[in-house]
Amino acid sequence: MHPDPAASVDAAAWDILGARLGLPLDAYRRDQLARRLSAYMRLHGYADAAALLAALAARPEEVERLRSHLTIHVTEFLRDPAYWERLAAVVAAMPARPLWRVWSAAAANGAEALTAALVLEEAGLSARLLLTDIDPVMLEAARQGEYRESELRHLSPDRRRRILEPPAPRAPVWRVRPEVAARMVVRRLDLLHDPYPPGPFDLILCRNVLIYFRAPDRERVLGRLASRLGPDGLLFLGATELIGRPEAHGLEWVAPALYRARPPA
Ligand SMILES: C[S@@+](CC[C@H](N)C(=O)[O-])C[C@H]1O[C@@H](n2cnc3c(N)ncnc32)[C@H](O)[C@@H]1O
Repeated sequence: MHPDPAASVDAAAWDILGARLGLPLDAYRRDQLARRLSAYMRLHGYADAAALLAALAARPEEVERLRSHLTIHVTEFLRDPAYWERLAAVVAAMPARPLWRVWSAAAANGAEALTAALVLEEAGLSARLLLTDIDPVMLEAARQGEYRESELRHLSPDRRRRILEPPAPRAPVWRVRPEVAARMVVRRLDLLHDPYPPGPFDLILCRNVLIYFRAPDRERVLGRLASRLGPDGLLFLGATELIGRPEAHGLEWVAPALYRARPPA
């Protein structure tokens, strides 16, 4: 096999691949995508683009498997704990509002949105949560609301029980508490192409997805997210995601990876 089987994927094959997977691949960083695709093709024995496309046409489960590989679903509760603790401190210092409207915009299996629910509940605040993601498999996982012990490693026993029910005998998963699930809506949304919910939101989480987008698309998404924030609304990004000029989007820096809607001067 060629050492880089993804080298055989030309522009036309990338287009077919994007259409098959239902992913807007032209907006993702091509270098990263090609590396991941190459690893996938080597692992599963696809010598070239033709073999891969034939398998995708023949087997729907292969479409799901490759989509999962390329969209990267790594997530966990309280991911990057120090960032969440800073968010909690900022929230606690803000004037109380009766209900927090929260949007987790690349929600994966929901661990992030549930962490937001936890942080707000600990501050004595209630929240309504919208969870969106591009991947239907992740959305189904978010609806199921079942989590393995390994995803909870940052949560103390007390914190776990605030949002999750402990495993039943012989069932190794924690389940989202029904009263928390009742405040969540889960929906498919492609951040690059779909219309956004009107908002306004008090908190938008868009963590660890912008890094996969090309710079112009990243900026466009940031502008659209910022436009959905209400007064003093917060935008919470991933630990490595920086906004070069927050003021260009009507935002101000509050803490690392945390920005606030800035009223127009
Ligand atoms: C690395 S996970 C991050 C999950 C969570 N936000 C966190 O930080 O733990 C990236 C998520 O972004 C989703 N995603 C990728 N491209 C997307 C797009 N264009 N629109 C919406 N979600 C997307 C993936 O399906 C995946 O669930």
